[in-house]
Amino acid sequence: MKPQIATAKPALQILKYGDPILRKKVENVSDFRNIPDLVEQMFNTMHEESGIGLAANQVGYSLNLLILDTSCLEGEEDTKPYILINTEIIGSEGSTIMEEGCLSVPDIRAEIERPESIIIKYQDLEQNFHEEIFTGLVSRVIQHELDHLDGKLFVDYLSPAKQMLIKKRLLEISKNGSPSTGIIL
Ligand code: NI
Repeated sequence: MKPQIATAKPALQILKYGDPILRKKVENVSDFRNIPDLVEQMFNTMHEESGIGLAANQVGYSLNLLILDTSCLEGEEDTKPYILINTEIIGSEGSTIMEEGCLSVPDIRAEIERPESIIIKYQDLEQNFHEEIFTGLVSRVIQHELDHLDGKLFVDYLSPAKQMLIKKRLLEISKNGSPSTGIIL
């Protein structure tokens, strides 16, 4: 028997609220050569942080690339991991309110209203194009991650009153990486 070779790629650092890279719109992926390695590192990072979605610019790569994996959540039906590249929303329907959190905005959770279903166009690792409809939690995670790729964060949707409530915490995150206390809005 051959010895097992360790191939695990190290996890990457998650950029936090206040980092200018998170506010910059990403570029489309045109050179796919290093994407499989980056995707593997992103999955390692996301799993280590117990996240269910991650956008490439959250780990410092300003590219239209996002991953998601909701398999850690009980009762989830659509549990296969997704790797979405050069994604574009081409349609949406309905409206639903769900609680969201974000690895770049730790310990702050809030109910956010978004379309219930989306139709997206994206490429896979082999550069093939797909058009697919998503609904439920997966649709929600994709919309949250696509906002990241546009330089938007879920807290941007909060009312001015709720923004006031988290102002100090956001400042603490940008200074120390986490707030002194958590909050659910
Ligand atoms: Ni996020």
